[in-house]
Amino acid sequence: MRVHHDVWDQDVEQVLISEQELDEIVSRIAAQIDQDYKDKNLLLLCILKGSLVFMGDLMKKLSIPCEIDCMKVSSYGHGTVTSGRINILLDLHRQDLSEKDILIIEDIIDSGKTLSYLVSYLRINGARSVRTVALLDKPSRREVDYTPDYVGREIPDAFVVGYGLDFGEKYRSLPYVGILKPEIYTN
Ligand code: PRP
Repeated sequence: MRVHHDVWDQDVEQVLISEQELDEIVSRIAAQIDQDYKDKNLLLLCILKGSLVFMGDLMKKLSIPCEIDCMKVSSYGHGTVTSGRINILLDLHRQDLSEKDILIIEDIIDSGKTLSYLVSYLRINGARSVRTVALLDKPSRREVDYTPDYVGREIPDAFVVGYGLDFGEKYRSLPYVGILKPEIYTN
């Protein structure tokens, strides 16, 4: 582990996915995208903020051309209300999506509400195609029936941070995915 992360490393109970494993996972997904999108017009759509790190690493590994964009969303009534409604905080500002093959880039899929909503939203807004990538998948938490097209790794229902994922806006810059010590989020 890197020295400058010492303070946050102490809050991590266990490294779930190391830097090297993440690199291998991202390389594997990039190779699949290279293959599947070589004759398409790829637009990578980063869902802020958790997907920033993954998106940055993934796009550098692609051999095919792509454009990039970002959206920021939040779900209403986080944790309690299961309305499935999503609040768009930063939208795509593009005139015409009809020639774009959009690949939504997510750090994690949990209930599935964010990705299923975004896929519908972008299709309604005229995208030529919409598919999804989730680095981490917690299938045991699903509330709506949605399966991402590309998944990095299925994980158990643990509180994970790092590689973009936060707890109270902390830990996003850790270079690995770790399980947070329970005393950090129960205090
Ligand atoms: C997380 C994650 C997804 C969403 C997944 O974002 O990045 O966008 O939750 O959950 P779901 O499958 O239950 O919809 P979060 O709201 O934590 O925002 P952040 O990425 O800015 O941390």
